[in-house]
Amino acid sequence: MKKVALVTGATSGIGHAIASRLISEGYRVFGTGRRSRENIPVPLLPYGLEYLQMDITNPDSIESTVLEVIAEAGRIDILIACAGMGIAGSVEETTFALASHQINVNFLGTAQTIKTCLPHMRNQSFGRIIIIGSLAGRIGMPYQAYYSSSKFALEGFTEALRYEVKPFGIDVCIVEPGDFRTGFTDSRQKIFGTTPAYATRAKIVLEKQEKDEKNGDNPEKVAILVVRLLAKRKLPIRASVGPMVQRLGAWLKRIIPAKLFEKIYTIYYSIR
Ligand SMILES: NC(=O)c1ccc[n+]([C@@H]2O[C@H](COP(=O)([O-])OP(=O)(O)OC[C@H]3O[C@@H](n4cnc5c(N)ncnc54)[C@H](OP(=O)(O)O)[C@@H]3O)[C@@H](O)[C@H]2O)c1
Repeated sequence: MKKVALVTGATSGIGHAIASRLISEGYRVFGTGRRSRENIPVPLLPYGLEYLQMDITNPDSIESTVLEVIAEAGRIDILIACAGMGIAGSVEETTFALASHQINVNFLGTAQTIKTCLPHMRNQSFGRIIIIGSLAGRIGMPYQAYYSSSKFALEGFTEALRYEVKPFGIDVCIVEPGDFRTGFTDSRQKIFGTTPAYATRAKIVLEKQEKDEKNGDNPEKVAILVVRLLAKRKLPIRASVGPMVQRLGAWLKRIIPAKLFEKIYTIYYSIR
């Protein structure tokens, strides 16, 4: 019997690559995005994907999507919680509404999707949940405080959830990508210019960050890692993927004094 996977954010980038790879590995894959099926050109979806419309900021939408998968396939073995977006700008310039939206999509939306799948996984005494976090959830990114916070929150969420669901045969892992070439960079909402005091430094940093993303790895690399993780008997707590120098940065942060790491990062972004 084919294992059944639900991949959020399967219309683009990392989610698209993971869904495609799982299909080619023989999984039955349901994938989600916010648009209705009719509004997505078929060639843009992974071949063989069973597409469902879902907005992860809307609990009713999540509930009905999960119930639809259960009605169609009878189970959800694997959840890849990938949907997400980013905002950039100084904390002072970011409105409460935009900050809330960032946290609602990346953290609460992901948490709600997982919560909705849990009773089904618990009933079937099996589940594998892979959360797509970010290396920005290990290192605070300048002028992306809310994005980083949403991904830091997922780190704590993953650690805590693992204890809760282990007795039910459910395993959880957070995958932490560095920079990847996806639609993420162009979709980013930027808030600059309302406070000139921040403008120059913010511009320097964001240009560097976006250049790194555009020169980032192919999302296929995340998909290969996910398939490798799913083949394991037990999932690790976290796994990073992406350009070596960025993964080294996260490792370095763990072993050197915090102030020294901050200094290195400041030099990297030319914002001394
Ligand atoms: N690219 C990178 O360098 C990078 C690095 C680290 C982590 N990540 C993480 O990887 C994940 C995927 O990003 P990506 O790079 O593949 O970006 P992407 O190409 O922009 O894809 C984002 C996906 O999320 C979906 N999405 C966005 N908001 C949603 C919402 N409210 N409800 C449901 N679906 C929503 C989009 O679907 P629709 O637009 O069709 O609704 C799309 O499928 C994100 O969590 C991101 O934070 C990316």
